[in-house]
Amino acid sequence: MTQFTVAVLPGDGIGPEVTAEAVRMLAAVGDLYGYRIATPEYLIGAAAVAREGEALPARTRDAVPDADAVLLGAVGDPALAGATGNRRPEAGLLALRKLLGAYANLRPVSVHPALREVSPLRAERLESVDLLIVRELTGGLYYGEPRSRNQGEAVNTLRYTANEIERVARVAFLAAQGRKRKVTSVDKANVLEVSQLWRETVSRIGGEYPDVTLEHLYVDFAAMRLISNPASFDVLLTENLFGDILSDEAGVLAGSLGLLPSASIGDGPGLFEPVHGSAPDIAGRGVANPIGAILSAAMLLRYGLVLPEAADAIERAVAAVLNGGGRTPDIANPGEPTLGTQEIGERIARFVRSDLAVQLAGR
Ligand code: IPM
Ligand code: MN
Repeated sequence: MTQFTVAVLPGDGIGPEVTAEAVRMLAAVGDLYGYRIATPEYLIGAAAVAREGEALPARTRDAVPDADAVLLGAVGDPALAGATGNRRPEAGLLALRKLLGAYANLRPVSVHPALREVSPLRAERLESVDLLIVRELTGGLYYGEPRSRNQGEAVNTLRYTANEIERVARVAFLAAQGRKRKVTSVDKANVLEVSQLWRETVSRIGGEYPDVTLEHLYVDFAAMRLISNPASFDVLLTENLFGDILSDEAGVLAGSLGLLPSASIGDGPGLFEPVHGSAPDIAGRGVANPIGAILSAAMLLRYGLVLPEAADAIERAVAAVLNGGGRTPDIANPGEPTLGTQEIGERIARFVRSDLAVQLAGR
């Protein structure tokens, strides 16, 4: 029996609730295909600060490099908003991304036909929206030194090397080759030297992929076009902070940020996490949408364990449940009945276990 180990880091807020449903899917595809996927849990974020005094404790740091993939819920806790150094929950996530060398963050955004009415945007604008944000994840303002803060002044540093830009650009062009063969690179080259280097470097790497069309947009215009003409994008390549902002905006297209998954790949095992945060306002109430986490588990199977059939089975199950009217509160129209986190997770897992394609193939 094929054995895999997925390190599970539930984290804070709704992280544990949505992660439990993603783990349920790993168990379900394991049953379906006969894999054994071990899912040991480790601390990160505020949960880790409470137990171990730091946001990425040694036990977690030691375990993740040996896992086949890492599944993460969310980090962040308003009670620790004033914390500094390695007691900041977010610092734990940033250190984890760095530790894994997870420099390319892939955030696919599409609009499920049954959810076209949920987005505040006009349904006809959402038809044929299918884009992939490739966000640089281990550089830029998130990591730049020097950084400092005192009473009257604070400093952060935006720094990128050509090499950091090249490697994430290659991921974007490779991804585009398997899609609609278009890369839109986002920067602020009319103001920032870093963006000028970004633009030059992306253009140079683009020369290696003559079958892919490359366009450059300033980030302010890109933010507008993401709303006014989202179907015009295929692969959207951008630096760390711009990518963070644009991906929340893209969540509006899908109908809810709670639907969006991500995969972060690079030098070590892949890191898979929903795009949403810890949502402390709804934590512990069993109403969070686990689909972003569940689709992250699908990305984990596809890119982390290279089990594309299992990934497909989960994605088919999510689509089936949405088609059948399964809705958490964030994607329900007013008055529509809703399901809790666990209920919709169980419903999706049932579809996975009875996957029609697998049954028909007689496995
Ligand atoms: C995300 C989150 C994180 C980020 C936070 C929690 C540090 O917003 O994954 O998009 O900014 O990268
Ligand atoms: Mn974010």
